[in-house]
Amino acid sequence: MIDEVVVRRAAPIDAPRAREIRCLALYESPLAYGTRLEEVATRPLRYWRNLIRQRPWFLAFDGDTVVGMATTDTYHFNGETHPGVYGMYVAPSHRGTRVALLLLEKIKEFNRSCGHHRLFLDVVIGNDRAEGFYEREGFRRIGEVRPLDRDPRRHLTPMVCDL
Ligand SMILES: CC(C)(COP(=O)(O)OP(=O)(O)OC[C@H]1O[C@@H](n2cnc3c(N)ncnc32)[C@H](O)[C@@H]1OP(=O)(O)O)[C@@H](O)C(=O)NCCC(=O)NCCS
Repeated sequence: MIDEVVVRRAAPIDAPRAREIRCLALYESPLAYGTRLEEVATRPLRYWRNLIRQRPWFLAFDGDTVVGMATTDTYHFNGETHPGVYGMYVAPSHRGTRVALLLLEKIKEFNRSCGHHRLFLDVVIGNDRAEGFYEREGFRRIGEVRPLDRDPRRHLTPMVCDL
């Protein structure tokens, strides 16, 4: 089954699928993200189409079912702008398979093709599985831990990998 998972860049027509997997992520893993489900759940489809137009979204499909997502956008570190990974999510049914790796590879490929040499992200402290995944895939902690703007009880650790 997992061999049939396809990861591809989303087009605006995929907006319903993008909404579906992002809302599942925010519902199922609320502590992993800075956004809350109620902020986006009732947004119209054009909101999701616009997001997909504004920055690359990659979706993982197992047949017709969307099972993962990741996006890339700018990341600010030490006063400089770099590429970053955002919204990484794999549905519980597909964790521990290659889906997360396939998503991350698409993000890496995209940023390499733009001429970038490093890729950044933030992970919430205590999200040990995500941090374990990123470390396995070549990310290392960099810089100082900082509180999440929207919830200062949670802290983010920045990570970077070479492309
Ligand atoms: C983060 C996520 C995309 C990773 O995908 P995944 O399929 O679970 O990742 P994998 O199973 O390939 O890798 C996880 C690694 O962390 C390790 N790990 C699992 N639990 C761990 C823990 N509690 N502490 C440390 N490492 C852990 C695993 O053993 C595995 O490494 P291994 O292959 O060397 O054994 C997925 O777990 C997810 O969507 N989580 C919920 C949302 C989320 O946290 N998103 C990240 C936001 S930054």
